[in-house]
Parts: sequence; structure tokens; C-alpha cells
Amino acid sequence: VSYFALIPAAGVGARMGAAGPKQYLPLAGKPMLRHTLQAFLDCAAIAHVYVVVSAADGYIDDVVADCGKRVTVLRCGGATRMESIRNGLRALDAHGEDRILVHDAARPGLTPALIDKLIGEAGANPAGGLLALRVVDTVKSTRTGRVETTPRDGLWLAQTPQMFPYELLLRALEQAPDPEAITDDASAVEMLGLSPQLVEGHPRNLKVTLPADVGIATLYLTHEHL
Ligand code: CTP
Ligand code: MG
Repeated sequence: VSYFALIPAAGVGARMGAAGPKQYLPLAGKPMLRHTLQAFLDCAAIAHVYVVVSAADGYIDDVVADCGKRVTVLRCGGATRMESIRNGLRALDAHGEDRILVHDAARPGLTPALIDKLIGEAGANPAGGLLALRVVDTVKSTRTGRVETTPRDGLWLAQTPQMFPYELLLRALEQAPDPEAITDDASAVEMLGLSPQLVEGHPRNLKVTLPADVGIATLYLTHEHL
């Protein structure tokens, strides 16, 4: 069994509202995606890294220029995150039980230690596993039209990487009903009746989504031990 990283990087970053896609914004002197790639390159357990970008992407060649032979660019991005990942899975070279670690390009604070922790704790689980954070805030719901409080006990925020056997993940994404509704890979696997394992992540692995996240990500990238 080999471990492969699959990094979806074909989004446009609408919520960031920058001039170009957010995964190429400079953070601490390097494009965001270059930081993300480095975490996997520094992790000996990862056999190969695949990056999915859109066919028209004009930035990626420069970003991977110094990454060496462990990185392959797949120009098969789709209209949604789920489609980008599904297209990438079809294009890459893995077999049934190989583990695929899907990780957002927009989470540059990932570390090799977090990758090793995920593999160590959930690598043998046939249903896979993912990094996640315990909810620390009080959670309010307006779903019913009234304001209600949902006990935070037992609530988690999903991060990536999310790791699954290749065949299982491909099947889950091919059977998922609505690509727009699938905001992470684990939910597609859960729909098959399986229960991926949660492994406690770290706040430094935040997803850079809004302009305010850029400063936080930069702080973590420039302070390794935060
Ligand atoms: N992604 C992708 N293909 C898409 C949409 C998203 O590969 N069609 C990737 C993004 O590049 C990102 C990750 O999925 O690394 C998480 O998505 P998100 O944070 O939502 O990024 P964007 O879709 O680019 O941002 P926004 O939703 O604000 O437009
Ligand atoms: Mg998006």
C-alpha cells in the first residue's frame, strides 16, 4: 500500500476576491500552493503528489518548477471541488487499497507531523480518516426559524487531509448525488454507510477563504512552533 497526496487547486477563490486564484497569493515570500506542496514533499510516507489545476492555469508551471519528480500536475480541474477531485482520481496512477490523502491547496499551514499523525492513527482504517478540530465556540442554529443552541459536545470541524483507500473514494465520489452539496470527501464516504475516523488536527491548518485569513496563515507560516 502506497500513500499519495491529491491536491485540488482548480478553484477561482471568489470569496477571497483577489486579482487571481487565491492558491497563488504570495504568503511569507512564496505562493500559497508552494507551501502546501512542501508539507507533503517533507513527509517521507508520501510516495507521490498530484496537483489538480484547471486546463487554462497559467501559474502552476512556475510553482512546481523546483519540486522535483515527486510532483505531477493534472490539468483536469472541474466546475466544483468534488469534480476536480474525481477527475484527478481517474487520471492518477494508484490501485485499490492505496491511500489517497486529499488536501486543499488553500490550507498552506499543514505540516509533515500532522500528515504522519493522520497516517499513524487512521492509515489502517478501511473507512479512512481525516483531520478535524473540536468546536470550541457556542453554536447557534436558526434552522427552525428560532434561535437555538446546539451543544458543541461531540461537534467537530472537518479539515484536510482526508485519507481513503483509492477504490473507496472513487466509488464514493462517483455515487455522490449532488456535487454542489459535497463540501468534503468524507461526507461522500459517509453516504456509503461508512464512518471515517476523526484525528485531532491543529488551528494552523486553517483554510484560507476570506481576506482576513491571509494574515493568520502568514503568522503560522512564519512561526513554525505556534
Ligand atoms: N477547488 C478545485 N476545483 C474547484 C473548486 C475548488 O480544485 N472547482 C479547490 C480550491 O482550489 C481549494 C479547495 O478546492 O484549494 C477548497 O475550495 P475553496 O476553499 O472553496 O476554494 P475556491 O473554490 O477557490 O474558493 P471560493 O469557494 O471562495 O470560490
Ligand atoms: Mg469553493
